[in-house]
Amino acid sequence: MNMPRKLISQRGKMSGLNWAYWMSQERYALENPALLEKKVALAQKFWEKRDAEGLCLLLPSTTRLTFLITHHADLQKLGMFEQMLFDTFAHDPCPSRDQWKGLFLRADRQRLLAIGDPLPAGEHFTLYRGTGKGNQLKYRRGMSWTLNPHTAAWFALRFKGVDQFCPAPAVFTLTVPRDKVFFHRREESELAVEIWACGKVERVESLPIAIPAGAKNDALLQLDLTRILQYGQSKFRCGPASVHGPAHWQRVLSEGLSLAEESGADVVVVALFALLHDVCRLDDGGDPDHGKRAAGLIGTMQGDFFKLKPAQMKTLLEACRLHTAGKRSRDVTIGTCWDADRLDLGRVGTTPDSKFMSTAAGRNRLRQPRRN
Ligand SMILES: [Fe+2]
Ligand SMILES: [Fe+2]
Repeated sequence: MNMPRKLISQRGKMSGLNWAYWMSQERYALENPALLEKKVALAQKFWEKRDAEGLCLLLPSTTRLTFLITHHADLQKLGMFEQMLFDTFAHDPCPSRDQWKGLFLRADRQRLLAIGDPLPAGEHFTLYRGTGKGNQLKYRRGMSWTLNPHTAAWFALRFKGVDQFCPAPAVFTLTVPRDKVFFHRREESELAVEIWACGKVERVESLPIAIPAGAKNDALLQLDLTRILQYGQSKFRCGPASVHGPAHWQRVLSEGLSLAEESGADVVVVALFALLHDVCRLDDGGDPDHGKRAAGLIGTMQGDFFKLKPAQMKTLLEACRLHTAGKRSRDVTIGTCWDADRLDLGRVGTTPDSKFMSTAAGRNRLRQPRRN
């Protein structure tokens, strides 16, 4: 497709920046001259106003890093470099560490720190990093780490089911001195660190429970889900390879939290249901009373493992007691628990049927299965 003549003529007018080139790196912009013209005008405006955030949002995602590398000197002169580096690093899905290293070493560290959220207290930070590619060095020693092991596990598992991206999910840990941190982003409890100047990376022995960074529910984050999972495992009689065992509980948890974002379910109840609803199974057969036994066990955990409000406890007990009966529920929280459980029926060779789904979120998921 030919580029509009008016846009080509703008070449050279903007500090040597060819906006038409940068903005036409996405096919839909190239095929729509009016849109391309608008984007070029906007880019020019952002550049003149030194609005690095606006420019970063406007640039096609596949182009930001190349733009940053190509124009780092201009960006530094105009005081836009650190903001563009910060935004590009946050958005780039598969960076090469060497490219980032060159860019970060050029940056003013104090400026980067000021752009991010304030650093947490302490002279050292224990950080985690999740990868679906196991022990491979370039994934293990990346620059982006999180303070939250559950977020790291979620990253390690986010492409589960897509083998080429996630053949070996693993979480690594590292202790980093305060002066090796470039910036902090509270959103994912993320710290970008000078990894080439940091010490040894260790693998976390058992994968922590995966919780998406978007799960901002304080009550959920206060639960010690790892301890609850371990307690459930200690009570479970069917062995770790059971189709109703810990791997199933983790999948129900991950699916349940994802459904809850749509259904509005109580995520604390959903998480506890996921980890405990099947722990009292005596075998992998029918065992119709395992839900009632799970409810009995949950009653004994209140106060020690969690402090649920009476209404939450009632909902959780009902969800566990009745999940074996194959019903639907009008209660969004109970319905979300049961839908998350049913969505994992594929593990036993059964395709879930939308007529048994309680929530719209569950029915939607059957139409559009999630990839992570
Ligand atoms: Fe069950
Ligand atoms: Fe289950």
